[in-house]
Amino acid sequence: MWLTWRAATQRALYGENGFYLRERPSAHFRTSVGASTVLAGAVLRELAGLAAGPYGTVDLVDVGAGEGTLAADVLALAPPELRSRLRVTCVDLAPRPPDLPGEIGWAREVPEGVTGLVIANEWLDNVPLDVVERTPDGPRLVMVDPSDGAERLGDRPEEADLAWLDRWWPLGETGERAEIGRPRDDAWASVVVRLAHGLAVAVDYAHRLGARPPYGSLAGYRDGALVAPVPDGSCDITAHVALDACAAAGERAGAVATTLTTQREALRALGVTGARPPLDLAGRDPAGYLRALSRASLEAELISPHGLGAFGWLSQSRP
Ligand SMILES: C[S@@+](CC[C@H](N)C(=O)[O-])C[C@H]1O[C@@H](n2cnc3c(N)ncnc32)[C@H](O)[C@@H]1O
Repeated sequence: MWLTWRAATQRALYGENGFYLRERPSAHFRTSVGASTVLAGAVLRELAGLAAGPYGTVDLVDVGAGEGTLAADVLALAPPELRSRLRVTCVDLAPRPPDLPGEIGWAREVPEGVTGLVIANEWLDNVPLDVVERTPDGPRLVMVDPSDGAERLGDRPEEADLAWLDRWWPLGETGERAEIGRPRDDAWASVVVRLAHGLAVAVDYAHRLGARPPYGSLAGYRDGALVAPVPDGSCDITAHVALDACAAAGERAGAVATTLTTQREALRALGVTGARPPLDLAGRDPAGYLRALSRASLEAELISPHGLGAFGWLSQSRP
């Protein structure tokens, strides 16, 4: 059976007994959420800023929440006054994890009229998309056999996809490939449109126009290892995100201010510096020094320019 990559990935990840409906993501890969509570602390600082505004209740919506770890960590870190004003919702296609605190809501879709912060960490890279290859006759869809990952060329993409490629991922030479990000643009726009007031943030592996990978970035992950992307439900299927295209879609959906930067820069602006504690603290308070040192190394992991710090960080707001 030959399917487009988008259809095959949809089935493998979210179809009956699909990878994400069955597996715990943390068993297969490490994200900024699973690495430490540093990201949760930064999210809490964003929320505290929003809570200083004119709103009584402040939403935190975690899209593609996985096991709900980020939401649970934010709640655990929140001071009581802020915690009592938070309404926290995890959004995922997977079933609600049994151990999630009762005050966290669980939904399959972002609620309407969010006032506060929407965060989507490593969500968009798991929104299925089609793959095309440049041939002497122009781009053709790449079809895949879900049982073994074998590929062959299919039809010409539809006009809207060709227009997306022209704008966001022009193909160079014969044999080059692109991943059509239109489903991700639509997914992100559907989040921004539900934001009444506040901020929507997408954090992901990303590339920009002019620096796309010439053969695409489709990859598989299983049990912590990179594997061939066979869409048979046995592994995660992921591809880096054209976050600049998502940003434009967010603006069409009503975002009024956009920042597209790296996780390193975004977290540094939120006070995550990875700075070592002063050496004299070691003499005055050895235990405090060790705690601060351990904290600094956790922060450094999230802002490393060669690792998680290189992730794209898209922030869009509505007043
Ligand atoms: C890579 S995991 C990220 C989990 C978590 N955010 C983290 O950073 O550790 C991606 C999650 O997105 C969810 N997801 C994918 N498409 C979705 C959709 N359309 N709506 C809601 N959740 C979705 C998957 O089920 C999966 O749990």
